[in-house]
Amino acid sequence: MKDKITGMEQEALAAVAACSDLKLLEEIRVRFLGRKGLLTDILRGLATVSAEERPAVGQAANLVKESITAVIDARKALLESALEDKQAVEEAYDWTLPGRCVPQGHMHVINQVAREIIEIFGQIGFQVAQGPDVETEYYNFDALNTPSDHPARDSHDTFLVKPGVVLRTHTSPVQIRVMEQVKPPVAVIIPGRVYRVDYDATHSPMFFQVEGLLVDEGVTFADLKGTLMHFIHTFFGPHTQVRFRPHFFPFTEPSAEVDILWTADDRHGGGTKSRWLEVLGCGMVHPEVFKNVGYDYEKYSGFAFGFGVDRMAMVRHGISSISHVYENDLRFVEQF
Ligand code: PHE
Repeated sequence: MKDKITGMEQEALAAVAACSDLKLLEEIRVRFLGRKGLLTDILRGLATVSAEERPAVGQAANLVKESITAVIDARKALLESALEDKQAVEEAYDWTLPGRCVPQGHMHVINQVAREIIEIFGQIGFQVAQGPDVETEYYNFDALNTPSDHPARDSHDTFLVKPGVVLRTHTSPVQIRVMEQVKPPVAVIIPGRVYRVDYDATHSPMFFQVEGLLVDEGVTFADLKGTLMHFIHTFFGPHTQVRFRPHFFPFTEPSAEVDILWTADDRHGGGTKSRWLEVLGCGMVHPEVFKNVGYDYEKYSGFAFGFGVDRMAMVRHGISSISHVYENDLRFVEQF
């Protein structure tokens, strides 16, 4: 009887050790320890064992039951954790997925163009200067020789913050701020936002300008022209045709507007189409402006110019509406 029990134990231990599947392991448990299993069979045979031997055989059977149970439990734990690991790996990684890319931004087209402009003037000695967006009427108009009855001061053009304070309508007030701070020679380039009550395909209520100012002894209109030609030929290409047209600004005398002959692909006709495009305003600094900042206008002369960065960007990239530039639709922004 005892041999039978030992033999069954050996068999069970070997079967468990060889088992690598949870379902199979359960079958083994049922086969050896189940209610109709081999151990139950053996215990049923206890009736045939003599009364003296019975306790010892019964004890041996119990020990075997415990040892088989322990081995099965240990095996079960091992197989379960192996299965969990396998599942975790399978669920965590889909090896066929492409890598996840982090979307990368870049500089806005307006900033790209503004930096390019600053870079071109930087190379010929202009330094960057800046001033506030919220400006007093004095800096935005009066100091720039713009009398209070000038059309530019009409409330239709100017955002009024409170009496005497406006959103600057151009970057020219920074000319005054710079000249109040430093004595000639001055050569500055002034990028910044400006604001006007105006909104259509070519006008936005907020847009970007770059202003230039150069003051020294003996500066002439030829210097102004040479500087702007250099800029236009660098920015738009060396063969760009340029036209200076007489104009009026209260703070420059004489004043001019500058056009370039811009050739674009003709979308309908197939060939190319050229037209004159106004790109900037400029002139010689008005003596009244020098007076307002305490510069000796007998000794010094200078020139100033200003243009819309958006206009430069639109011409350069063939952008049809200024609203694209400021709506920040990614389908547009990502093209630059
Ligand atoms: N401030 C003018 C404008 O906004 C441009 C300009 C600047 C003209 C400097 C002459 C000199 O229209």
